[in-house]
Amino acid sequence: MSKQEEIQKGYVPEHVAIIMDGNGRWAKERGLERFMGHQEGVNSVKAIVEAAAAVNVKYVTFYAFSTENWNRPKAEVDALMGLLVKTIKSEILSLNNNNVRLLAIGNIAELPVSVQEELHEATVETAHNDGLSVVIALSYSSRWEFRNAVERIIKDAKLGLISEEHISDELISQYMSTKGIPDPELLIRTSGEYRISNFLLWQIAYSELYFTKKYWPDFRKDEFYDAIIDFQQRERRFGKTSEQI
Ligand code: FPP
Repeated sequence: MSKQEEIQKGYVPEHVAIIMDGNGRWAKERGLERFMGHQEGVNSVKAIVEAAAAVNVKYVTFYAFSTENWNRPKAEVDALMGLLVKTIKSEILSLNNNNVRLLAIGNIAELPVSVQEELHEATVETAHNDGLSVVIALSYSSRWEFRNAVERIIKDAKLGLISEEHISDELISQYMSTKGIPDPELLIRTSGEYRISNFLLWQIAYSELYFTKKYWPDFRKDEFYDAIIDFQQRERRFGKTSEQI
């Protein structure tokens, strides 16, 4: 039985979030430039989008560029931005053919104009698709997102649109950049690092965490299905006892 067949029988997470890590080490081990690792990482992104759509996952969020990544050498940042523009441009047709919608979260206004324009075009052109939603987190960090949410909540309170008694988990979620997107049931991090690195801290309150030693460029369809199979074997209790489930 293939891994995909094993999954079809079980409960598939609606939203999988992924911290793609290990591109640099993957390249270094092969005596290649770091950029080659990112380039090969794009092939993993494509493979995971296909794998997710094939088992009816509804949302996949990729942590493509964190707020902290701005501190990398300018040449690497520029190369990553160029890779993003190129990938998005070349994938729009394929996204539409496969009923995939592209969304972006993060401090998009901080990105180079070329990336903003490409993202805008791709999100508008795929907005009607109702299959898989691919969410790219760019210039994203949870602390930025919290700060931004608090600022907007205060603004709306000053305008009289909300007041203290309206504050609830649901309302706070509405002010997050993931507004309208269900919380991830599963968070995957590759490359043997056991950290969350400022990613979706509000949204992963009850997520199952899956860590693998594989570097991101080596994380493909079967590795993704391994993570889902592992997820399916867990008991999610949400603070309750086993007997209450
Ligand atoms: C982490 O590896 C990876 C990144 C910071 C960038 C990931 C981005 C891509 C693969 C491009 C994504 C493209 C789309 C369209 C979503 P690292 O450089 O931190 O690796 P290291 O820890 O081994 O140095």
